[in-house]
Amino acid sequence: MEILISEELSNPALDRLAQRFGVTADGQLWREPERLQAAVAETRVLLVRNQTQVTAELLQAAPNLLGIGRVGVGLDNIDVAAASSLGIVVVAPLNANAASVAELTFGLLLALARKIPQAEQSTRAGGWDRRTHTGIELESKTLSVCGLGRIGGRVARLAKAFGMRLLGYDPFVTADSAVVRETGAILCARIEEAVATADFISVHLPLTPETSHLFGVKVFAACKAGAYFINTARGGVVDETALLLALQSGQLGGAALDVREVEPPARGALESQPNVILTPHIGAFTREAQQRTFDAVAEDAERLLSGQPTQNFVNFDRPRRG
Ligand code: 3PG
Repeated sequence: MEILISEELSNPALDRLAQRFGVTADGQLWREPERLQAAVAETRVLLVRNQTQVTAELLQAAPNLLGIGRVGVGLDNIDVAAASSLGIVVVAPLNANAASVAELTFGLLLALARKIPQAEQSTRAGGWDRRTHTGIELESKTLSVCGLGRIGGRVARLAKAFGMRLLGYDPFVTADSAVVRETGAILCARIEEAVATADFISVHLPLTPETSHLFGVKVFAACKAGAYFINTARGGVVDETALLLALQSGQLGGAALDVREVEPPARGALESQPNVILTPHIGAFTREAQQRTFDAVAEDAERLLSGQPTQNFVNFDRPRRG
């Protein structure tokens, strides 16, 4: 077996790959760790989305594996350090969905500010209630962008075009970086400082041990009362219980969540909060982003199997194993 696909993935780019290589696709494999381990032991390239947990244990049991292709950008389900120590390439097209996620973020920002979902629902039900749906402008408001990488940087630039003031929180970004110079964002060293005066807070951080539940009781308490919170990054960065309490107490004015701690989430209290917008992790789901992502991963899978350097590697460009 040359290529193993362990989640529901379908795209013409994969069909083209299957014409040249032996591809085994089993959309349910990620659910069964033992069967997954047996299949990965036989394969040379593994293609995953965000559900397959690519652990050190799984990789240690895969002597033939040359590389892992992540159809997306989040790497929290892949032990990249373990892959690197075993000489296995990890491929993820980090730029492929940045525009789509940034645009969705802005859609949610506008939807929160102008109460678009509530106004739409009430009008659809026969209402014509204009005053209830009075919103706020974005112009001259402060947006805190937490995570100023490929996606957060785009969000900051869009916000600048809307006349917003910007705060930035990103331990890896310095004052002389392009995004800071272009947007005039004021960098904050501490997360509490980054949220204290913001009217809107948007999260664009990866999920790591350092960012897990970063947005919890303490940070929400440090927010300006009535601020709006948007998360299109990873659900685990937010403590949902703390978020719910902050929404119920009015400490937060509203929230828009495209990502959840557990996906799909069980139906809970957040689902019945009136000031919450929920979408099913669709940040990367545009025709363009999906095509770019699949094309890039398929091309790199082909490169791995034909001994050429990959283009979207996140550790090294070719396998370091025999
Ligand atoms: C990503 O990490 O690329 C996005 O969150 C989308 O991921 P998914 O397509 O695996 O859901």
